[in-house]
Amino acid sequence: MAPDAMTTSPLLQVANLAFTYIGQPGPTLHDVHLTLQAGELVVLAGATGSGKSTLLNCLTGIAPDHTGGRLSGQVLYRGQDITAWSMRMRSQVMGILLQNVETQLFTDQVWEELVFGLENWNLPPGEIQALAQTALADFDLVAQRHWPIARLSAGQKQRLLLACLLTRQPDLLLLDEPFAFLDTAGVKQLLRLLRRRVQRGQTVVLIEHRLELLQGICDRAYRVEAGTVCPMAVSELAAATVSLPPLTSRPRQVARGPTTPPVLQTHGLSWGGYPAFPDLKVFPGDIVLLQGDNGCGKTTLLKLLSGLLKPSSGRIWLQGREVTGQRVVQRSQTVGFVLQNPNHQLFADSVAAELHQPGVAPAQAQALLQQLNLTPCRDQHPRALSQGQKRQLALGAVLARQPQVCLLDEIMVGQDATSLALMLETLKTFTDQGGALIFTSHDGAIATALAPEIIAIG
Ligand SMILES: Nc1ncnc2c1ncn2[C@@H]1O[C@H](COP(=O)(O)OP(=O)(O)OP(=O)(O)O)[C@@H](O)[C@H]1O
Ligand SMILES: [Mg+2]
Repeated sequence: MAPDAMTTSPLLQVANLAFTYIGQPGPTLHDVHLTLQAGELVVLAGATGSGKSTLLNCLTGIAPDHTGGRLSGQVLYRGQDITAWSMRMRSQVMGILLQNVETQLFTDQVWEELVFGLENWNLPPGEIQALAQTALADFDLVAQRHWPIARLSAGQKQRLLLACLLTRQPDLLLLDEPFAFLDTAGVKQLLRLLRRRVQRGQTVVLIEHRLELLQGICDRAYRVEAGTVCPMAVSELAAATVSLPPLTSRPRQVARGPTTPPVLQTHGLSWGGYPAFPDLKVFPGDIVLLQGDNGCGKTTLLKLLSGLLKPSSGRIWLQGREVTGQRVVQRSQTVGFVLQNPNHQLFADSVAAELHQPGVAPAQAQALLQQLNLTPCRDQHPRALSQGQKRQLALGAVLARQPQVCLLDEIMVGQDATSLALMLETLKTFTDQGGALIFTSHDGAIATALAPEIIAIG
């Protein structure tokens, strides 16, 4: 190609793209046309399970190279057809942040991870050190420089991945829900950094449901809908963030009298280097939000409550009985825990089987499948679900066992308004029937909808 065409062509042009996963009856994406110019920030909106992540995967070559499946159509980078390029070749010009933050980390230590990425790009050692140092400061990870990655919270892992990716400075940044686990300060900082990158000529495509976050910073928007991609006016962004409908409130089946004992109580819990956690006293039907910045210990506290971790000091009671030293299997009959990463707790070979577990009444499993809108994919393998759908399924699987206390670790991220409303309604039914809910979330709209008691951590 003539050098002129390289500079005058759009950065990326997608024409007639279609993609079909193995085992799916039809294409997840078809007739996709998309043009990205250098130096713009483009938002990709669309419902849970609509195909947003699939589209990013098709651009980077992850689909079909890693996922399997059939891809057709054209992807042109500066006018050059890259459809036959390997993922490695594509990674010279584009970088992706995957939705599942744990699948993308390669080393065991924060500094190594940053340097590892840069060494792969043959930069001089002095430059690598300087770039890595700046990236740590940009993403507020200076204090964690020598930490093992396993010690980072999900939000900190997300910051580290973003630091690695942004340091490399590819022409095109593809970010799948980069704000999902970030605290408020982290969201603001990332928006600032991305805007700066775009001004310097890099192109950013990002997936996010809370579209109001992006008003005023994004140049264009697309919506993935009915298997294809349609342009959307930027002015529609705020309107497209449907506010959550008010939750239906039912009378409590378990009325709380002055003598009702707490279902869960803690005193003086501490673990590792965290400051002592606040004492909890949670009654049937209560909704409690654990709030705090990335890395303050919210997940750790949930793990202590579930029995996955043993406290260094302090005590835990369930229904008045001390359970501090009790094993997690015993405690799991009373306490259900939906983990931040749904991939860690889906083991069955179909969506339906995940809920129809031994000891679960079939009607209960059925009702949850319906409530969470999982009936249409009941025969699918959980692996074939989108990340948002996996979170709904993990919630359903835990609630099916009818725990008295349900712990949720940021599982509402990345849900479109309709799915989120279904999830919140399901949780409200659980608490109205006397279940106690303890959850973490950085999303203010969720706190407003559930009106929880707020406990500050850290
Ligand atoms: N590995 C897979 N095998 C088979 N089908 C899959 C696979 N991954 C995704 N799908 C299908 O593609 C659809 C879209 O998935 P995708 O992950 O692209 O959605 P998404 O828009 O990113 O959703 P979310 O907002 O929940 O992340 C799924 O609902 C499922 O039908
Ligand atoms: Mg996705």
